[in-house]
Amino acid sequence: MELQATLHSIHLTSPDPLAMAQFYSRTYGMQMQALENGFRCRGPGRELRVSTGAAHQLHHAHFALSTPAAWHAFQARVASLPQHAVPANCCDGQAMALRDPDGNLVVFSAPQADAHALEAPLPPATLQHFALRTPNMPVMLAFYTEQLGLVLSDAVRDPQGHLRACFLRSDALHHALALFFAPEACFDHQSFEAPDWNSMKTWGDHMAAQRVPIVWGLGRHGPGNDVFFMVRDPDGNLAEISSEIEECAPGRPAGEWPHEEHTLNLWGKAILRS
Ligand SMILES: [Fe+2]
Repeated sequence: MELQATLHSIHLTSPDPLAMAQFYSRTYGMQMQALENGFRCRGPGRELRVSTGAAHQLHHAHFALSTPAAWHAFQARVASLPQHAVPANCCDGQAMALRDPDGNLVVFSAPQADAHALEAPLPPATLQHFALRTPNMPVMLAFYTEQLGLVLSDAVRDPQGHLRACFLRSDALHHALALFFAPEACFDHQSFEAPDWNSMKTWGDHMAAQRVPIVWGLGRHGPGNDVFFMVRDPDGNLAEISSEIEECAPGRPAGEWPHEEHTLNLWGKAILRS
């Protein structure tokens, strides 16, 4: 049984939060608002915050449980785990903050009111998943699945059987979190899910109008089967638009994939993180 949680917002740190916020508001059609020590960018169904700090690092990710019952079940599930302070202005109502083995802060909250009834002249693209790089795959996977309750959808292994990537879901959609094996722990990307092919085209044309080049894609990921393209933000983080991500039936067995370019992009070249 999945947690019944969806990714609500991502908060990154950056040496230049203003440049990052201007980039995301321009390229992803979000309204920018100054906050203490940084900015909040919001569009319909998508929110990203940036504050001063090191590049390529997650300040925190915020998942919202979808129903009060799911929130109470999650609270009971993690009650014995070490709790951390919930970042100020992170969310409405009750929330809990936990740190994963790499030190990333992950916040889970009660259901959030739809504060995203915002107008934007672009097709929908809902914040849907994010990805982390980690040198500690087995313990990170164990934390997110056994401790927090995310469900493994697909694993990618090298010929020696070492886990090189894994895709974890918090609701029916194939992954809300992806983990990639890499020498350094850091943020990898977040993805905004568009409803269909036509909107992918519109988003691509929008990036072109903004003179933001696509650095990977169009392609289709093997795990998740999502069509995607990626650009880079001013700090060099990847930022994705995707569509057609797999909807998983309850009890779907976890899949196994070989660590090769074809797995990460069925259509061609891939970015291999290690
Ligand atoms: Fe992605």
